[in-house]
Amino acid sequence: MALQVIPLAQVGAEVRGFDITRPVSNELAAELVELWNKHGILLFRDQVVTPENQIAFSRIFGELEIHPLAVTTSQEYPELFVLVNEPEKEKFMTARYNGIDLVNKLDWHMDLHYTGKPNRGALLTAVVCARKGGLTGFGDLAKAYDALDAGTQALIEQLEVTYTFSMQRRHMRFADLVGYEPGPYSPRKPSDIDFPNFPEVAYPAVVTHPVTGRKVLEICEQFLERIVAPHKVGLSNDEAVELLMRLVTHTRRSEFHYFHRWQPGDMVLWDNWRAMHCATGTEPGVERLIHRTTIRGDKPLGRMVDD
Ligand code: OGA
Ligand code: MN
Repeated sequence: MALQVIPLAQVGAEVRGFDITRPVSNELAAELVELWNKHGILLFRDQVVTPENQIAFSRIFGELEIHPLAVTTSQEYPELFVLVNEPEKEKFMTARYNGIDLVNKLDWHMDLHYTGKPNRGALLTAVVCARKGGLTGFGDLAKAYDALDAGTQALIEQLEVTYTFSMQRRHMRFADLVGYEPGPYSPRKPSDIDFPNFPEVAYPAVVTHPVTGRKVLEICEQFLERIVAPHKVGLSNDEAVELLMRLVTHTRRSEFHYFHRWQPGDMVLWDNWRAMHCATGTEPGVERLIHRTTIRGDKPLGRMVDD
């Protein structure tokens, strides 16, 4: 099985010539891991995916993580994280954006970032594709770092930024709140939907990827809170907020993005130590089912902020 690698328009690559139903040799496994590290986002199409082969394929990239939020894991396969739009759950995940109700829209984020120990990667497979909307966006923060001017790179090398988990989007300081209204059932605190609380965590604004050595701009707008002690590098509080806003705006540039519109048989694997992702959401009543497997991060990239 010879793999062909076709770069996607801006970031990431599509891998052709792979068949998940066939055994994977050690050579092929090593090639897949190398492609994952090189491109950060890998798309595979036309795969005949089962929970078993998804789990086995994901283990090529590392040990799997059982997500701490037990509410969303599959009963039968604890390694599978089930992302489903269904009427009962849907109402809690509905909010209004410029007058339109959207279910499960998610801002740019990295998974488990709010724990200080993000997972190493994850694989999404499409079980039921939304008939409208429901795209997943991916953003390459290594490319975003490389595209910063040298002055900004040097400044942010000295900084730490913090993230604060919140159920209430309107308290996120760097999300785009124009036209946003929470839904009547939007959770107000983590325990409303059986989530635990998470303390604030701090990350270097530039993280050196532990495996590839690439520098990653550790800025994603979901839960982003503040720069730690900005005065130590001569920044006022206003300047610190402006700098974060400028960095968030930079990460929103489409040249760092790939938006995936799901078709049956698609799988997307990403490096969660490098790429952020988001979800465009769907209108209410649109069926969508995605299976996620999560590759454990074996070291923290952030630290807990003492309270
Ligand atoms: C995730 C996630 C986005 C989507 O699985 O972590 O954010 O499109 N999914 O469902
Ligand atoms: Mn996610």
